[in-house]
Amino acid sequence: MQTLTQSPTDPAFVQNPYPFYKAARAAGPFFHWQDYDLPCTGNAAAVNAIFRDRRFGREPVAPLVVPPHLAPFYAVEAHSMLELEPPRHTRLRNLVLRAFTSRRIAGLQPDITALATELAESFPSGEFDLLQAFAQPLPVRIIARLLGVPEDMAPDLLRWSNAMVGMYMAGRTRATEDRAVAATEAFVAFMRSYVKARRTTPADDLITQLIAAESEGEKLTTDELITTCILLLNAGHEATVHTIGNGVKTLLETGIVPSLLAPESVEGTVEEILRFDPALHMFTRHVYGDVEVMGHTFRRGDQVALLLAMANRDPQVWEDPANFNPHRLVRPNASFGAGLHFCVGAPLARLELQIALPILFRRHPGLKFAAPPRYGDVYHFHGLSALLVTT
Ligand code: HEM
Repeated sequence: MQTLTQSPTDPAFVQNPYPFYKAARAAGPFFHWQDYDLPCTGNAAAVNAIFRDRRFGREPVAPLVVPPHLAPFYAVEAHSMLELEPPRHTRLRNLVLRAFTSRRIAGLQPDITALATELAESFPSGEFDLLQAFAQPLPVRIIARLLGVPEDMAPDLLRWSNAMVGMYMAGRTRATEDRAVAATEAFVAFMRSYVKARRTTPADDLITQLIAAESEGEKLTTDELITTCILLLNAGHEATVHTIGNGVKTLLETGIVPSLLAPESVEGTVEEILRFDPALHMFTRHVYGDVEVMGHTFRRGDQVALLLAMANRDPQVWEDPANFNPHRLVRPNASFGAGLHFCVGAPLARLELQIALPILFRRHPGLKFAAPPRYGDVYHFHGLSALLVTT
C-alpha cells in the first residue's frame, strides 16, 4: 500500500481537498495516509462494501481509554447509536425510526416551505451572511420542532453543537476539548431538565415518543434518551446547514441555477449537490476479524478511513466526476453513508434541500457573492465559514 502525506490542517487542502483525492486515487483502492496513520479508501466500491460489511463497525475492539477531562463527552457518546453496534444499535435506531416515518417527514413539507419562505423574505438589504440568515436557522428550527424542543433554543443548540463537533476535527487542541466538554455538560443539563418537565406535558413530538419508550422499562434508559436527543439535534442540522451553504456556492459559481427551479430537476440537482461537495468527508470503521477487501487484508483491531467525498468522485461510477452536472442520472452516492448506520435523517435533509433551494432562488434570482466564499478551517467537516451575498 502506498503511503501518502497530506496535513489535514494545511489551509490549501482544507479549502480544496479534491486535488489530493485525485492524486490518492492513482495509488489504488487503498492508501496509507501518514498524517492519520490509517489505511484509507475513496474507491466507491470499497467504501460501499465496508459500510455494508458487518465485520467492520463503529465500536472499537478494545474499550476506549478516556482521559479524565474528556469523561463527560464520552459518557454521552457511550449511548449514541452512531457509536454502537447491534444489539444496542438496533434497539436505539428502531426507536428513532418509529418516529421518523416517511409520513411524518413528508408531513413537515408545509412547515419547511413556510419557514424557508419567511427566512427568504426577511433578508437584510446590502451584504449579509446567507449561512446565518438562511442555511442555519432552517434545519435547526425544523429538527427542534420535530423533537419538541423550544425553537428559541436554536442559538444555544448551534453553539453547543459547533463546540461538540470540534472533537472530530483534525489537529484538535486542549482548548477545543475543553469547549466540547463544557458544551456537552450544558447540553446534558438542559436536556435533563427539559425531559423532566416534558414527562408531564406530552405532545405530538419525538421527545414524547422517546419518553414513552423509556417508561416502558427495558427499552430506553434516561441516559440513552438524553444522548439520542443530543445526537438528533446535532446530526439534525450541522451537515444540512453546510450542504445548503456548499450547494448555494456551487450553484452561484456554475451559474446554472435556472435548472434547479424546474420541479422535475430539483431531485437531480440536490443529489448532485450532495455528491459534488459534501459536508462530511471522513468516517472510520474498526475491523472485527481478518478480512480481505480489494486486495488488502485487514486484521482484527485495525481501523480504516472511508473518504466519502473522494468516493463521490470515483470515475468508475461517475463520468467526468469533477464536473457539477445536475442532469446526470441519479445513483447512490456516499454522502449519507450506507449499511447499518445509513443516515437516519437522509429523507429529512433531502426534503429540506429540495424545498429550501428553489424558494431561495425564486425569491432572489439576483443572488450573488459579495465576497469569495471560504471554507472553515477544519477537516473532516467541509463547510463554509460564511457565505457573504447580496440579493
Ligand atoms: C445533508 C445532511 C446530512 C448528511 C450529509 C448526513 C450524513 C450522515 C452520515 C455519513 C452518516 C453515517 C456515519 C457512519 O456510517 O459512520 C449519518 C448518520 C446519522 N445521521 Fe446524518 N446526515 C445528514 C443529516 C441528518 C439529519 C437531518 C439527521 C436527523 C434528523 C441525521 C441523523 C443521523 C443519525 C441519527 C445518524 C446515525 C445513524 C446510525 O448510527 O444508525 N442526519 N449521517
